Amino acid sequence: MTAFRVGITKPIHPAATKLLQDAGLAVLQADEGQPIADLVGHVEALVSHLTDRIDDALLSQGTELRLVANVAAGYDNVDIAAAQRRGITVTNTPGVLTEATADLAIALMLAVARRIPESDAQLRSEKSVNWRLLPDSMGLDVTKQTLGVVGMGQIGLAVAQRAIGGFGMTVLYSGGSGPAAATAREIGCREVSLPTLLAESDFISLHVPLTDGTHHLIDAAALRAMKPEAVLINTARGAVIDEQALVEALREGLIGGAGLDVYEREPAVTTGLLDLRERVVITPHIGSATSATRRQMSMMAVRNVLAVADNREAITPITAARAAGKDVLR
Ligand code: GLV
Repeated sequence: MTAFRVGITKPIHPAATKLLQDAGLAVLQADEGQPIADLVGHVEALVSHLTDRIDDALLSQGTELRLVANVAAGYDNVDIAAAQRRGITVTNTPGVLTEATADLAIALMLAVARRIPESDAQLRSEKSVNWRLLPDSMGLDVTKQTLGVVGMGQIGLAVAQRAIGGFGMTVLYSGGSGPAAATAREIGCREVSLPTLLAESDFISLHVPLTDGTHHLIDAAALRAMKPEAVLINTARGAVIDEQALVEALREGLIGGAGLDVYEREPAVTTGLLDLRERVVITPHIGSATSATRRQMSMMAVRNVLAVADNREAITPITAARAAGKDVLR
């Protein structure tokens, strides 16, 4: 019997690759820059990343393909409907990156509010501490302010818990109806409409997946509806924000600042965003980038592969119902 073959588009944690090899699976690791199309026709399972575009044309070449194991919570890079039509299971890695991503959302909120990158750059350039009661780079309070969570799933809840427990914030949310939203209400979060959230929040953190319904959810009108000092945080998907409209809103001072980890056209970042430094902090999609989390994500993807190789159900499949009702990021 020929071994079950697994194509890995870009390196995953070595412990996870070893798990596949120890189980006797044939592992085909793509070389850097090698097109996925080279692999897909020769494997039963593909371990993919959020930077891989897994569309119908690619899937059509996967004559033996049974599984796409995406090493990410989000799966907007995979054409789920096309995979389902072709009988290919798609899995993601929910849960294991919740805490790391929530930590980064809070880190961005604090970094923007207290202008940490700007202050760091200032000290390095001035080389001495020029203490003044009224510095140019005055910060914003976080404690006891209002946080609006857009998309109350597991990650939104983890952010809300930090905001309430750590900073005594009032938390409003919109979107989300599952167990995470129920827990959020138990800890005092209040569900409001998106217009109310935009109008009342000092900080707004996005935790919705990218779907047709959330594409440009934060557009020019939404930005205008925010408080002039509001800070927008995005650790979800870039295209949830109209990035050009955000650049203009920041330039015109329509909102107070932004902390961004994701971008509308990754790997590109809208021209203009890179030049905005005052109360704008940008990181290169590192929400889950802690060593423990990236290891767990790799392991979860590989456990899905092992299950399918063993003719068992995948552990975290994206079912039609889950894909249709995905209004929160898990
Ligand atoms: C990261 O953005 C992920 O979806 O895992």
